[in-house]
Amino acid sequence: MPKIGRMGMPLYEAIYSMRAIRRLRPDPIPERDLEIILDAARQAPNGGNMQPWHFLVLRDRAVIEQFAPLYHEAWWSKRADAGIEGRDHPALQNPVSQSAMRLADEIGGAPVIVLLCATAPGAGNAQSVIPSVQNMLLAARSLGIGGTITTLHAAVDERVKDMFQIPEQAQIVYCIPLGYPQGRFGPLNRNPLREIISEDRWGQPADWVE
Ligand SMILES: Cc1cc2nc3c(=O)[nH]c(=O)nc-3n(C[C@H](O)[C@H](O)[C@H](O)COP(=O)(O)O)c2cc1C
Repeated sequence: MPKIGRMGMPLYEAIYSMRAIRRLRPDPIPERDLEIILDAARQAPNGGNMQPWHFLVLRDRAVIEQFAPLYHEAWWSKRADAGIEGRDHPALQNPVSQSAMRLADEIGGAPVIVLLCATAPGAGNAQSVIPSVQNMLLAARSLGIGGTITTLHAAVDERVKDMFQIPEQAQIVYCIPLGYPQGRFGPLNRNPLREIISEDRWGQPADWVE
């Protein structure tokens, strides 16, 4: 049984400071903490409790470095799909894109990468594994470990599957680099609650929201 009591941080603190951490220190994540993080992921809700997830954990430096160019290619393939070519494109001149672009360059330095897979095809199975990533990142946050959700791209999917002998029927849903942050956690920048809530009818303000 993993020592889950190590996740001592209050839930509110984890939720309100768990921002995307893309710059990671190379320091290894202790195995006992990695086990806690994955055990938290396994507690997540999922459709019909079929638990169609598989967590492929990359830790070997050589393996991560072999994977890194495919992540880089996937990131740029997603940009190309959106008509964005080249690092100087105006659509990339914002902090989130700059940070994500840097991750595409530097992911090879992450101490751990988790490929969150669905074990069977179809949108239902992919959706079913999604809540687990939030558990994973919150548990990681409580242990001082950061990461972010990322996706790959069809352009690299088959090569990534071949590289790790991922079964044909499985789907790679997310790619989650994990490590100790170079920067800091939180606070988060989100739109005000009033702007995203209505009551009884779309657009009718909820008076009880500050
Ligand atoms: C479905 C999904 C896909 C994402 N894909 C990427 C990605 O490919 N690369 C990346 O660096 N961040 C990715 N992110 C992270 C988001 O950019 C991040 O959650 C968002 O900007 C909010 O960041 P914050 O929590 O630090 O405020 C993704 C997040 C989600 C939920």
